Amino acid sequence: MTTTITWYGHATFGLQIDEYFMLIDPFFAHNPLASVSADSFNPQYILVTHGHGDHVGDTIDIAKRSGATVISNAEICGWLQKQDVKTHAQHIGGGFTHPFGYVKLTQALHGSALPDGSNGGNPAGFLITTLHGKKLYFAGDTGLFGDMQLIGDEGLDYAAIPIGDNYTMGPADALRAAKFLRAKHLQPIHFNTFDLLKQDANAWAKQVEKDTDSKVHILKPGETFTI
Ligand code: NI
Ligand code: MN
Repeated sequence: MTTTITWYGHATFGLQIDEYFMLIDPFFAHNPLASVSADSFNPQYILVTHGHGDHVGDTIDIAKRSGATVISNAEICGWLQKQDVKTHAQHIGGGFTHPFGYVKLTQALHGSALPDGSNGGNPAGFLITTLHGKKLYFAGDTGLFGDMQLIGDEGLDYAAIPIGDNYTMGPADALRAAKFLRAKHLQPIHFNTFDLLKQDANAWAKQVEKDTDSKVHILKPGETFTI
């Protein structure tokens, strides 16, 4: 009855929910923080938040080898289908009950052009209600937005939010996001992958735990969190 969340650095996760294993934004080959290779995974599902290379990552290779179904927006799914990848297209605000739980795409303030310049639609986050009823929010790459309060109203058990600044929220806006989201467990992501994203996650965690009731988990790449 547990969900195991493994972080591989940047925005890359492995999620085990009972017999279902999925990857989120599987960026391994060019991810300086990931110490595992894309070849070591056999997911049934791959969730892709948006079209940028550090999120689409190794999706095509992994999906073709494993036969995984990619869950993403309609534009990214259309692009993947043309490359013989199995997909399940959704769009922002829309949810679907997959075998492992209900997945809803949420808005994100960012871009989504695909690596070859194709239109990747709008960027998204994922709100996953696991088959055990746990609510997990993966914000994707995003700036702060006030409607994070609405996502917080869902009653989040866990949220993963970017703190790296420059391309996404930085620590100050991520602290405001933490107040909107009110997640029981909170994990900072999308930092320290590259010099441009250097942040002091420990200082951020201290401030969040002072100002909110959230417990912050700073994982090392490859570490696991169970909920
Ligand atoms: Ni991005
Ligand atoms: Mn990114």
